[in-house]
Amino acid sequence: MGHGNITREILNNISCPSKVFGFEVNKDFCKQVESEISDSRLVIINDGAENIKKHTNENINSVIGSIPFSFFSKEKGMGIIQDSSDKLVDNAYFSQVLYIKFNFKKFEQIFN
Ligand SMILES: C[S@@+](CC[C@H](N)C(=O)[O-])C[C@H]1O[C@@H](n2cnc3c(N)ncnc32)[C@H](O)[C@@H]1O
Repeated sequence: MGHGNITREILNNISCPSKVFGFEVNKDFCKQVESEISDSRLVIINDGAENIKKHTNENINSVIGSIPFSFFSKEKGMGIIQDSSDKLVDNAYFSQVLYIKFNFKKFEQIFN
């Protein structure tokens, strides 16, 4: 979630019964988003995206991320992409901000 800029826009564009699981490892950022965004559809999770399976029981329709893959080991990065892919329904949407294409191959290996 970072400071919640993308999260806020997601919430502005989804339907009423939808739910957003916002992952963020930095506790201060979680507190900031909690104080600035008041929306019952948002579930703030102070944990890494590598634990997506632990925090989501249901399957999910989309993943929208801007987490820093460049700082992760190959195993950790691949684990996040694979676990996210496992949780997604058919024909789901996956979006990840990449500032450089260095990590793009990891996504190509998992998503067709
Ligand atoms: C580029 S910022 C996100 C900016 C955010 N999209 C916004 O709109 O403000 C990347 C964020 O990823 C967080 N982060 C780092 N490792 C993470 C992990 N394993 N899982 C989830 N978030 C992580 C960082 O703490 C940082 O806040």
